[in-house]
Amino acid sequence: VIADVGLLHAGCDIPAEKQPLDAGFIELPKHLLAEWDESGDDSLLGRIETAAAQFAGQVDRMLVLGIGGSYMGARALFEALCHPYHNELSREKRNGIPKLSFEGNNVDTAAVSGLLELLAAGTDPAEIADRWGIVVISKSGGTLETAVAFRVFRQALEEFYGSDSAEALGLVIPVTGETGKLRNFSNLRGYPATFPIPDGVGGRFSVFTAVGLLPAAVLGIDIKQLLRGAADATERFHTADYDDNPTLQYTAVSHYLETEHGLNIRVLSTWGKRLEVVGLWYDQLLAESLGKAEKGATPITGVNTRDLHSRGQQHQEGTLDKLITNLYVEPDANGAVTVPAVPDALNQDELNKYSGKNLPEILQAAMQGTNQAYADVNRPTADLVLPKLDAYNIGALLQMLMLATATEGRLMGINPYGQPGVEDYKRNMNAILSRS
Ligand code: PA5
Repeated sequence: VIADVGLLHAGCDIPAEKQPLDAGFIELPKHLLAEWDESGDDSLLGRIETAAAQFAGQVDRMLVLGIGGSYMGARALFEALCHPYHNELSREKRNGIPKLSFEGNNVDTAAVSGLLELLAAGTDPAEIADRWGIVVISKSGGTLETAVAFRVFRQALEEFYGSDSAEALGLVIPVTGETGKLRNFSNLRGYPATFPIPDGVGGRFSVFTAVGLLPAAVLGIDIKQLLRGAADATERFHTADYDDNPTLQYTAVSHYLETEHGLNIRVLSTWGKRLEVVGLWYDQLLAESLGKAEKGATPITGVNTRDLHSRGQQHQEGTLDKLITNLYVEPDANGAVTVPAVPDALNQDELNKYSGKNLPEILQAAMQGTNQAYADVNRPTADLVLPKLDAYNIGALLQMLMLATATEGRLMGINPYGQPGVEDYKRNMNAILSRS
């Protein structure tokens, strides 16, 4: 398998015209950074940053509408890189960064009504605390869930700000493909800022287009650092030997254990709550890319130590069908909460023996203990380690997982792009709705 992966690695030099459609994500971070170096504010990154700063200055809540690849990336970046209680903080504590809500990723009446109610609670469009705006993301521009949500929330927004006001127009930012229903509608309405999703970048591979970058920039995330991490991960993938190439190692280990040992459940065991949605983003990436032709591992995201108290039992003693990959950040004692000491008379919980230990140390001990327990019964684990939880390392991680997915697709003889199976339900749903 290592030899095969090595060959694929060498195959990365296939000329651009022979690369599969939608492989445009591979060099995208490098190209965006180069364009920014050359054209500054006129580059796509420059325009994203300007639009994001304007939007952030005008609203107290950003509503991001989108589903699948037009949703998960922004949410992963938000949860990994923003304050864990961002929406609960005062505007001052958020440094003027808007709160964030997601919709258009389901057709859930309680969630939509609840959000409409929340938005309607603000009554004065002149008050920043009451103001909100929409970023609507759909590459095809025709996905029903997102389109319905856009209509519903657009109507609420126009009622709030006045239907044809320049203000209401400026508070909607569409991100969409070069053609399609949302593109047509955006042209018709004349929204001042509309951002493209390039044809050659598939939905779930689009986090480093405006799909992920625009919401990230509104949230104050350093999008250039994200892209630098991603560009460096690509460079390392292209040039490093197997022994220093995490993408190839991850692909080889996962693929080998699946094909040779039947470990067709891939558990991404995240250590820390902020990485959970990176895991959910990866669930979609792996499942939708490689779950084809009756092949493809089943992804599961876990969050530890939480899930040690639920799935842990099954992972330790259940069916032998899992590769557990730990995703964790190097422990950092800086500013970490420690276990306080209490007078002996109050030591009924017997924690004084651990007093002074910090939470990262306890988490690390839990992880080592868990790995040891799996190893004792011959259950394999692998580790993905982030030196730090910051924009650069998250950029590198997401790009590495996209590269690994595309590489494994070639190894399996599966085209990782496109999702014909998902189209089936959409067709049926539309037919049922039209009939009734
Ligand atoms: O990865 C994909 O291509 C899909 O998950 C799409 O992102 C998802 O179906 C949403 O499509 P669209 O952006 O066209 O609304």
